Order: sequence, then C-alpha cells, then structure tokens
Amino acid sequence: MQVVTVRFQPHGDDRGQLIALEESKEIPFHVKRVYYIYDTKSGVRRGFHAHKKLEQILVCVHGSCKIMLDDGEERADVLLDKPYEGLYISNDTWREMYDFSSDAVLLVLASELYDESDYIRNYDEFLKFVRAKKGVQ
Ligand code: TYD
Repeated sequence: MQVVTVRFQPHGDDRGQLIALEESKEIPFHVKRVYYIYDTKSGVRRGFHAHKKLEQILVCVHGSCKIMLDDGEERADVLLDKPYEGLYISNDTWREMYDFSSDAVLLVLASELYDESDYIRNYDEFLKFVRAKKGVQ
C-alpha cells in the first residue's frame, strides 16, 4: 500500500532546530484538533481503528514508535523516529501504533474534532466500509 510521509523543513541555526506546521501548507487539511500520546507503557499496542472522515498527520516529536497501516488489501509498517517527518493517514486506513520507546511523544494533527461516531473500531466493519467505497463485494 502507498505510505505517505512528509519531510518538514527545519528552521535550523546555531541555536538548534524549529519546525512550524501550518494548515494547507505542510498539513493538507484544516487542523481542528491536536493531541499527543506519551508515557506509553512497554509492549502497548493501541489504535485499532479507522475513521469514516478524519485525516491525520502523525509526528513522533521525541523517541520512536511504529505504525501499522492497513488499507483493507495491504499492510505497511512505518517507523517514526524523526521530529522532521510526518506520516499522513487517510480516513479509510486501519491503524495500530506499537513499539513505543519509553520517551516517545507522538503528536497527532487531526482534521476533525473528537467524535466517537466517526470511528470504525471493528475490523470486519472496516473491511465492509472500504470494500463498499471501492464498489467491491
Ligand atoms: P483511544 O481512542 O483509546 O486512543 P487510541 O486510538 O490511541 O488507542 O483514546 C483514549 C481516550 O482518550 C478515550 O477515552 C477517548 C479519549 N480521547 C479524547 O477525549 N479526545 C481525543 O481527541 C482522543 C484521541 C481521545
């Protein structure tokens, strides 16, 4: 499956690095919500859902973690370990996050406010959703 990563341009100088993310520039949607995941316990795997509408960009701004993406046909595993790299995840992608380093901070920029009714938390429902969209039985 196609994995979309975005390399952000750091504004570096002799003091260090700074990255700015602006909607409709580095971020290809209007950002309605920002959240971050940290202090993740060893061995934890989380996510296990897709969305009907919401798009996201994930940035592991400190430490590292892995993201498993599944478009209903193929899977991909992506290592996030650079504060200047974003991973775009479209709505109809099943995602699981795992292998968090103890110092990992995973920043998420989301196109929608938190809305439980936008979640698809059942894998079989997810497959039905993507197959219906593609017109596959
Ligand atoms: P959860 O959906 O379990 O996170 P993940 O998909 O990463 O495994 O969310 C954990 C809790 O946080 C759950 O009670 C819902 C709440 N939550 C919010 O209140 N707002 C948010 O924006 C998010 C992402 C979660």
